[in-house]
Amino acid sequence: QKPVFILAIESSCDDTAAAVLKDDKVLSNVVANQLIHNEFGGVVPELASRAHQQNIVPVINAALKKANITKEELSAIAFTQGPGLMGSLLVGSSFAKSLSLALNIPLIAVNHMHAHILAHYIDEEGFDKPTFPFLALTISGGHTQIVKVNHFFDMEIIGETTDDAVGEAFDKSAKILGLPYPGGPLVDKYAQLGNPKAFAFTKPKVPGLDFSFSGLKTAILYFIQKKVAENPDFISENINDICASIQHTIIEILMDKLKLAVKETGIKQIAIGGGVSANSGIRTTLKEAEKRYGWKTFVPKFEYTTDNAAMIGIVGYQKFLAETFEDATVVSKARIQF
Ligand code: KG4
Ligand code: ZN
Repeated sequence: QKPVFILAIESSCDDTAAAVLKDDKVLSNVVANQLIHNEFGGVVPELASRAHQQNIVPVINAALKKANITKEELSAIAFTQGPGLMGSLLVGSSFAKSLSLALNIPLIAVNHMHAHILAHYIDEEGFDKPTFPFLALTISGGHTQIVKVNHFFDMEIIGETTDDAVGEAFDKSAKILGLPYPGGPLVDKYAQLGNPKAFAFTKPKVPGLDFSFSGLKTAILYFIQKKVAENPDFISENINDICASIQHTIIEILMDKLKLAVKETGIKQIAIGGGVSANSGIRTTLKEAEKRYGWKTFVPKFEYTTDNAAMIGIVGYQKFLAETFEDATVVSKARIQF
């Protein structure tokens, strides 16, 4: 059987990414990060789309070169249709359309959230693939969802955030502590040196499988303001313990809902995805849950957890097999029906 070569393009937020897959194996996975946003404390959409326009051709060329593939060998082009920032999505989709027309090969539209979940189906040594059905916890700067995954394109959201995403909870807490954006990885770094029980933050009471993080952010803000009023050096003297306690609270919120989801569905396979799954505390807690609750947990390779194009490529491969193609009138969607 002839191998399938997919060129995948991801441009939904602030990373311009391209990957080449040979069937379900990744030949190259290139990401150009846009560091310009850091000084603004968040992604500036207008700057993001301009940077995508600047980066997209070099990133795609680098992905093809690294994979040792010519454009003429490609079987199809897959791109992120949404959800994401409209200006950013348009750069990827317009490029993908043009290239598929020029090469006369199929065009495949990919839902970014499906991709975070299906990244687990990339063939990678040392990483198991979940079997259907499984539960996916997608945790990123934009999303917090528990999804029941029945099959590749048969998924239901059974819980999601009613306000901030987990990544925002990390980043906004970090901002309160005066840490630079994006603060999630820094909170993680300090948390590893601190006592998770040093300070207690109240967990929100949200019914069912939904989440809420805005109350936690406010609780942290008031706590820090009060402590700093008493001792101006409170943050610097306690940064490790503060971060460990914040992280511990966030992980407890996630674990409480996962336990409930397992109870309600009877499914004990849990796969995580999205940038926050890089968090060391979450990774350790999930591994412990295997022994404690008899779960089987799946944590993807680090480069497939944050935004990347390899995950778009694996969905592209599944859609190629299913012959789910788009014509050139397909449009980007900032919000997308799951
Ligand atoms: O998936 P992603 O790269 O982009 C989207 O939001 O779609 O996720 C980025 C988010 C940011 O909020 C960042 O602070 C968070 O993931 N993050 C982390 C860690 N690494 C990245 N949060 C906590 N601990 C980490 N180690
Ligand atoms: Zn993402």
